[in-house]
Amino acid sequence: MCGIVGYVGGRPALDVVVDGLARLEYRGYDSAGVAILAEGALTTAKRAGKLVNLREALAEEPPPAGTLGMGHTRWATHGAPNDRNAHPHVDCSGTVAVIHNGIIENFAALRSELEEAGHKLGSDTDTEAVAHLLEDELKAGGNLADAMRRVCRRLEGAFTLVAMHTGDPDLVVGARRNSPLVVGVGDGENFLASDVAAFIEHTRDAIELGQDQVVELRAGGVAVTDFEGRPAEVKEYHVDWDVSAAEKGGYDYFMLKEIAEQPRAVADTLLGRIGTDGRLTLDEMRISDQELREVDKIIIVACGTSYHAGLIAKYAIEHWAGLPCEVELASEFRYRDAILSPTTLVIAISQSGETMDALMAVRHAREQKAKLLGICNVNGSTLPRECDGVLYTHAGPEIAVASTKAFLTQLVAVYLIALYLAQVRGTKWGDEVFAMVQLLDGMPEKVDKVLETMEPVRELARSLAGERCVLFLGRHVGFPVALEGALKLKELAYMHAEGFAAGELKHGPIALIEEGLPVVVVVPPRARAVLHDKIVSNIQEIRARGARTIVIAEEGDASVEPYADTLISVPAVPTLLQPLVTTVPLQVFACELATAKGHDVDQPRNLAKSVTVE
Ligand code: F6R
Repeated sequence: MCGIVGYVGGRPALDVVVDGLARLEYRGYDSAGVAILAEGALTTAKRAGKLVNLREALAEEPPPAGTLGMGHTRWATHGAPNDRNAHPHVDCSGTVAVIHNGIIENFAALRSELEEAGHKLGSDTDTEAVAHLLEDELKAGGNLADAMRRVCRRLEGAFTLVAMHTGDPDLVVGARRNSPLVVGVGDGENFLASDVAAFIEHTRDAIELGQDQVVELRAGGVAVTDFEGRPAEVKEYHVDWDVSAAEKGGYDYFMLKEIAEQPRAVADTLLGRIGTDGRLTLDEMRISDQELREVDKIIIVACGTSYHAGLIAKYAIEHWAGLPCEVELASEFRYRDAILSPTTLVIAISQSGETMDALMAVRHAREQKAKLLGICNVNGSTLPRECDGVLYTHAGPEIAVASTKAFLTQLVAVYLIALYLAQVRGTKWGDEVFAMVQLLDGMPEKVDKVLETMEPVRELARSLAGERCVLFLGRHVGFPVALEGALKLKELAYMHAEGFAAGELKHGPIALIEEGLPVVVVVPPRARAVLHDKIVSNIQEIRARGARTIVIAEEGDASVEPYADTLISVPAVPTLLQPLVTTVPLQVFACELATAKGHDVDQPRNLAKSVTVE
């Protein structure tokens, strides 16, 4: 939510900042703006709508050339997405500019206080209050960083703030609490951003900022303190992907590229997991085998697509590790009285590692003394720092708002965790775990095979672009796949789409079936006869009521052919691993259908990647 870039160095700041914003636009695209500090004055420019509008405005009226700058791309929280509410916001004198990601919860009180003191606020945002608070604090003494520390101590809620001040012409200041901000360390130049993608073409050396820290960025160096001004320890890291990973590489959309990258992403996430002794090793687990042996319950928390990965994890954990497992929407978790103890393992799944709902669930679990394990795709993000252990997925940067390769790699991660638990708890023998990992190693090839056969799925999707509604059915791990297929269609094609457990249909939803309604059915492998045969009956039931059946089944499954208006065949794989191959056609289907409707699949309306507000 909201992308932030800050720069100080020797290059034209405007170019660096606008290029950085282009890489962060996936985080929000309601409006965009920049501020440049040059010749002792601040110039701001901002426009509602996508970055292209700001680019046009800047081309018409370029700001003076400067080497200090910052930019913002917005996902609106307080105030409509118009020019006035776009960031940066300035103080009364126009000498301080601020950009912000997050929500300042006590902004109403701060705003009244500022207005009573005579400040004139020109927008409806919570952010503008910070510019005016900085104005007052600068009058009280010290530089912009001192003022920022004092202001941060007064703010409640979640925020990343970046500010510049004409009185500190070589300084960009950033601050964070519960919202992402990373530092890019260059040679004679330094960067601030919500995500390393913004500066990856300039440097791959980064610094993780901790909670409640303020960073002073100058061309020659970076200094980090806490909100009280005490020097803080920081963790440096090297980003293991380069700029090409953050570009479209010839594809029309990032989503298409990311779907195509899935075999590689799955393979990378599996890399190096088997030690020289043939046993599964998870490097950053940091929870001891003894502690894992003592675990008596697992609770998985996650949101959206990551939640669907959690639903699939439950089947694997219960089957392989023999542990009870609950799966909860992270946004709901802390509002119920979940029973947690030091022997509960809470697994939080989040691609971005910054989803506020997931972080709040983790903090709630921490208070109850549970063990915490994160599954995350972004090195340097908050979630891994707040968990006892972590398993990184290696999907590379996911830029399209809709999660695709992140989801498949999350599945790999949950399979690995389930197998690891089985190994340390002895519910599976070493050779059984090894055999399963070998099967996983074969999955990139299977996913590749699915991708090679997607043309009929694309044709089908185009032919259904005029439909109002599509239903998705599945059983067992096919049920979360159905939910994921429906979510993809909703968010990309803005169509009514629902996923159901096939067995539930007769308890109500079957009333939705009418002549010609497209219903996608995910059929389990024939090897699970008890599941397979039931779903074949379900297909017949809906077809008898007029549904147009789109059936995803394993190759050679002739039993479904008579009841499938369209049959999509996927490679035969073990039941628990089947989501790795059945999800892919649903991603392609939603992407193509949305494109046929003329939608921008990378930036669906009302959405943003990395949801950093609750
Ligand atoms: C859907 C999608 C979202 C995310 C959700 C959680 O395609 O991408 O539903 O899965 O917002 O995000 P993370 O995994 O970053 O916590």
